[in-house]
Amino acid sequence: MSVLLCAPQVTPSLLMAVGSAVLGSLQFGYNTGVINAPQRSFYNETWLWRFSEPISHPALTALWSLTVAIFPVGGMIGSFSVGLFVNRFGRKNSMLGANVLAVLSAALMGLSQLASSFEMLIVGRFVVGVFCGLCTGFVPMYVEEISPTTLRGALGTLHQLGVVIGILLAQILGLEWLLGSLSLWPVLLSFTVLPALLQCVLLPFCPESPRYLLINCSQESEAHEVLVKLRGTENVAEDMQEMREESHRMQQETSVSILELLRTPAYKQPLMVAVMLQLSQQLSGINAVFYYSTGIFEKAGVSQPVYATIGTGVVNTAFTVVSLFVVERVGRRPLHLIGLMGMAVSAVFLTVAMALLLAWMSYVSIAAIFSFVAFFEIGPGPIPWFIVAELFSQGPRPAAVAVAGFSNWSANFLVGICFQYIEQLCGPFVFIIFTVLLLAFFIFTYFKVPETKGRTFEEISAGFKRAGAGGADKYSLCMDQPKSRHLQSPSSKIYS
Ligand code: GLC
Repeated sequence: MSVLLCAPQVTPSLLMAVGSAVLGSLQFGYNTGVINAPQRSFYNETWLWRFSEPISHPALTALWSLTVAIFPVGGMIGSFSVGLFVNRFGRKNSMLGANVLAVLSAALMGLSQLASSFEMLIVGRFVVGVFCGLCTGFVPMYVEEISPTTLRGALGTLHQLGVVIGILLAQILGLEWLLGSLSLWPVLLSFTVLPALLQCVLLPFCPESPRYLLINCSQESEAHEVLVKLRGTENVAEDMQEMREESHRMQQETSVSILELLRTPAYKQPLMVAVMLQLSQQLSGINAVFYYSTGIFEKAGVSQPVYATIGTGVVNTAFTVVSLFVVERVGRRPLHLIGLMGMAVSAVFLTVAMALLLAWMSYVSIAAIFSFVAFFEIGPGPIPWFIVAELFSQGPRPAAVAVAGFSNWSANFLVGICFQYIEQLCGPFVFIIFTVLLLAFFIFTYFKVPETKGRTFEEISAGFKRAGAGGADKYSLCMDQPKSRHLQSPSSKIYS
């Protein structure tokens, strides 16, 4: 952490703003990891109490699947609505206001047992899903817009760090001897109110995004003031100039609706890259591991599956920290490629271990799952979330973040729903499907994803426009150097 903290551009004001924002990311991770077995028995008890007979197996499965699946459905709706808020209320106020949903969902879920109502739990999961969908759009957008160009990747990775810490926290608090017991699970679910309240206390002390102030609201002096605070220096002329140029172009471009984004040829390439990166994250199979890891470990013959699951959470967090430190040095493209290939190889090892099921193979399966997760966090975990905001300029950014977020949540929903059935069909070979998908995404990334490290938003979108106009040879190397201070590696791919 010290490298990041010692960078001259990392001022207390910037750290405070990013730290407060990523409490929203923590909420997303926490609510992804928190649903577990004791809540299932609550359905049985409530049914018995209401109808004086135990719940049938199909009814329990249906109600439980609904409880699990309604969360990403909420996420789809939330992420798709991001554009409705960020330009109207600003980035900061949108994050602040969304906490109403977190408080409401905590009340619904926390009181469901007292009210003997699984309906309240299901509605609560939906509301918290909408909230998390909004967070996955608001947080990366705000963080990218307030970060200096040279630290956008590292600070953007903090969104994913918040997510993985949230998952780990849920895994630990969810242990039976902590809050995962038959009596305490409502507390476990309503815990989500605490980060919400903390964020409500901290955010009012954080600045609004200077890009929003200048480009969307034409408040030049306010934007200047915020930049001086965020950068810790009076010398912000370069940033101001870059934003003014973007603002000038915005007068022709104005804000772009989702429909316009989908229809405009100039946005086709960056949008395809954004959506494919989101799909590569979800269709890598990562959430098959997070939703079903205990079952996978059990099947692979691991004797203490719950602790192996917590082990995945620890590996997940550790490698996100690794990515945080290397992303500005190595770049987005190489890390994403290494991550996808590493996951594909790990998935092959996992398949062999599950298919052979020899006694010592359980160790291979633990190692394979750990390395699957580690490679995920090197690139495919953090990068898709923050790169979307990098690929678009201020006008189309909210619509692009909405479309990309919606694709991510839809794929998350699909994997969550289908994995159990596909596993029944394919048995131990289920991860081969993910291997094939991972290789396909590797090829796509190799040929189509540009490097964005060290480039201003303006340089990135200009690169796409040039490529779109047919001015660049498809797979040639980019020879232009970025205007920004941080020089680009000459081997970076052109926008193809
Ligand atoms: C990413 C994914 C999320 C997943 C998590 C695992 O944030 O978007 O779905 O659960 O990584 O660390």
